[in-house]
Amino acid sequence: MASSPGLAALLLCALFTASAASRFAPADNHLIACGATAPALLPDGRRFIPDSGCASTRLRSQSPTLPTTAPNSPAAPSPLHAAARVFSCHASYDLAIRRRGHHVLRLHFYPLDSTLAAARFHVGAGDFLLLHNFTASSPIIKEFLLPVETDVLALTFVPDAGSAAFVNAIELFSAPEELVGDIATLVTPNATNQTTGLSSQVLDTLYRVTVAGHKVTPFNDTLWRTWVNDEGFLLSKESSGTRSFGGRIAYPKDSRLMTREVAPDNVYSSARSVDSEGTVTWGFPVPAGNRYLVRMHFCDIVSKAMYQLYFNIYVNGRLAVKDFDISGTTGYLAYPYYIDFVVDVEDEGMLKLAITGSKMSRPGEASGLLNAVEIMRMNKTGGGMDGDFPVILDMDYLLSKGIGEFARSLLCGLVFAGLFLVLVTLVMKLRTELKNSGMLWSH
Ligand SMILES: *[C@@H]1O[C@H](CO)[C@@H](O)[C@H](O)[C@H]1NC(C)=O
Ligand SMILES: *[C@@H]1O[C@H](CO)[C@@H](O)[C@H](O)[C@H]1NC(C)=O
Ligand SMILES: *[C@@H]1O[C@H](CO)[C@@H](O)[C@H](O)[C@H]1NC(C)=O
Ligand SMILES: *[C@@H]1O[C@H](CO)[C@@H](O)[C@H](O)[C@H]1NC(C)=O
Ligand SMILES: *[C@@H]1O[C@H](CO)[C@@H](O)[C@H](O)[C@H]1NC(C)=O
Repeated sequence: MASSPGLAALLLCALFTASAASRFAPADNHLIACGATAPALLPDGRRFIPDSGCASTRLRSQSPTLPTTAPNSPAAPSPLHAAARVFSCHASYDLAIRRRGHHVLRLHFYPLDSTLAAARFHVGAGDFLLLHNFTASSPIIKEFLLPVETDVLALTFVPDAGSAAFVNAIELFSAPEELVGDIATLVTPNATNQTTGLSSQVLDTLYRVTVAGHKVTPFNDTLWRTWVNDEGFLLSKESSGTRSFGGRIAYPKDSRLMTREVAPDNVYSSARSVDSEGTVTWGFPVPAGNRYLVRMHFCDIVSKAMYQLYFNIYVNGRLAVKDFDISGTTGYLAYPYYIDFVVDVEDEGMLKLAITGSKMSRPGEASGLLNAVEIMRMNKTGGGMDGDFPVILDMDYLLSKGIGEFARSLLCGLVFAGLFLVLVTLVMKLRTELKNSGMLWSH
């Protein structure tokens, strides 16, 4: 009798998982609406399950966590913004992993009030610190690509001293294998060279841009990504134009490396082109002192015949590829292709990308183009995106420390109370209700 509701929840989760995937069906697909009381249905067709209602997810905490809902504001931009879960102490979501390998993790933060907007906290995945001293003062989605080599991934939320932590929604799904390669072109001030070991890195998505195209929303993206227009990042353009393509984007037959999951057709159907004398430069503000993965997407949607586009690609002011010949590389026109560059940004805090025409092209005709760009920050150490910090992410350790820690957890509650007087009364009420109904699912 006791197990049947659990089983039902598991089946329900499986059902939602199946209906959520239209073409790409990730082996793992956790879609969690934190603090919500009912499933949230997104415009892209995916259904997020309340964090209390899914058997493949377990929430553990040192002290009660708090579901909180938005004050009745007119129209929340997304159904995921209607609720959040607030943590006063360490808490973790344990997510079951069916298939090890790369996963896409998206954390949705929508501060429901000024206290949450000022909350300072840390977020870990396993023993890796993803976000250190993080503040979501305005709505933000943090996306990470990370290798997962365990059967359970613990997402741990740790309030900084005297503060609280919160999250509105969590997406964790298996990435298609072709999404992350291992080899890239390392661009250093002196030379370009091959670099390997990319697939063990943790990536933090900073920019995803479709060049000269309309914004692509999760509805139209194979992995529910958002691609924004490049206009805001243009630094200069000479002898250039915008292009769009009504034809069909083709993919190499049976290619396991280039598929629609790498990027959707929409982003390849538009581009900015340069003629043989032209230059287009983009600039992306990035935190200095980091290493970046820059993925530039190309698809020759302008040439009428093969071997007509030759152009140069500059990464951070350095010539990274000279006389790049797309059709010669892919063997066809309108076939998508991308190049991964790895580059260190030391002090300027601006990552510049440029394409310039080549003398090898015919004067007055398109010489080169760019269709899309993704910029991802790479992790600094094996311990965290920003380096190593003494933040305890191990819930088993914390929860096993016993009664002495109970006092600590009360203290957390008290500090919390200073910040959330009203909400804490709710906690007490909730606690009693949960105790009475025997439904204490977080302990
Ligand atoms: C987070 O930042 C605050 C203010 O800058 C600092 O006092 C605190 O020590 C930091 N916490 C950690 C764990 O680094
Ligand atoms: C790069 O070039 C500069 C000056 O030309 C030189 O001082 C430096 O040692 C070079 N670095 C590497 C890694 O070769
Ligand atoms: C490129 O990398 C290889 C292997 O790491 C190294 O042996 C070689 O010297 C590098 N070339 C340049 C130009 O830095
Ligand atoms: C999806 O893409 C089509 C074709 O580009 C476009 O007409 C439509 O508005 C897009 N839908 C959304 C929700 O972005
Ligand atoms: C990034 O993290 C991975 C896995 O946690 C680790 O193998 C890799 O060495 C880290 N990168 C750096 C530059 O420390």
